[in-house]
Amino acid sequence: MMQLICRDTELLPDARDIARRYGFELVRNGAETGPYFLQYGFDGLELCPADNPKASVRVDFAAGANDHRRRFGGGKGQDIARAVGVRSYCPSVLDATAGLGRDSFVLASLGCQVLACERHPVVAALLEDGLRRGACVAEVAEIIGRIRFHYGNARELLLSGREYPDVIYLDPMFDHDPRQKAAVKKDMQAFRDVVGQDEDSDALFLTALDHVRCRVAVKRARNAEPLAGLSPVLSLKGKANRFDVYVLAKVAPPEA
Ligand SMILES: C[S@@+](CC[C@H](N)C(=O)[O-])C[C@H]1O[C@@H](n2cnc3c(N)ncnc32)[C@H](O)[C@@H]1O
Repeated sequence: MMQLICRDTELLPDARDIARRYGFELVRNGAETGPYFLQYGFDGLELCPADNPKASVRVDFAAGANDHRRRFGGGKGQDIARAVGVRSYCPSVLDATAGLGRDSFVLASLGCQVLACERHPVVAALLEDGLRRGACVAEVAEIIGRIRFHYGNARELLLSGREYPDVIYLDPMFDHDPRQKAAVKKDMQAFRDVVGQDEDSDALFLTALDHVRCRVAVKRARNAEPLAGLSPVLSLKGKANRFDVYVLAKVAPPEA
């Protein structure tokens, strides 16, 4: 069981709540038992490698890469915006593989209403914590206000019939070669170690095609096979990634 360390008495009630909802073991002090542990402090929730707690992963929408991408990311001209079909109409998007919320944040900053769905307890807890803190920062509060968060399996959510978004966005974990570890940034390595592979992304993709109004957009490694072997209508290739787009209808407001 993942350990959640909280050393500040004042924060214990919140830490207890996080531990209960996500199934972590709450501990007051050190004694890490696995290669990773979670730490909750006044700066929020962090995932820390036990052998290097300073190389931690935390979701911060108001600083670092998220902030840089919000200000200089290229707006509606960037590939993710074109893949999702953001123009004058901003579609509602189910980000079915929300991860640390970077893509959800980009889409929300373009004006989309985003439902960010994440099933992994550690990743979901980090994302929820980042959204909670971001909602208190003036520069990004409005953007965060466009993101709803759902902890659970996106395929089950779609099959429940509770959501029927304009667009479904998928970014499942890429197959990765363990020999390439050295080339991966430390935070991404921690993320990959904890989450592992998404072996069921074909099933999620096929379900998405049946539960969406306008299109499904899939982020893939540049040379990866398309999901479920289905050729996309459109493919936007970047340096490392590409976006496969499966069009069902024009991205436009629903008819009244
Ligand atoms: C590569 S990461 C996504 C990164 C994300 N696009 C971002 O910008 O931070 C893939 C994530 O999708 C999640 N995931 C995969 N299949 C899922 C499913 N069926 N339902 C919910 N989350 C899923 C994994 O747990 C993992 O955290």
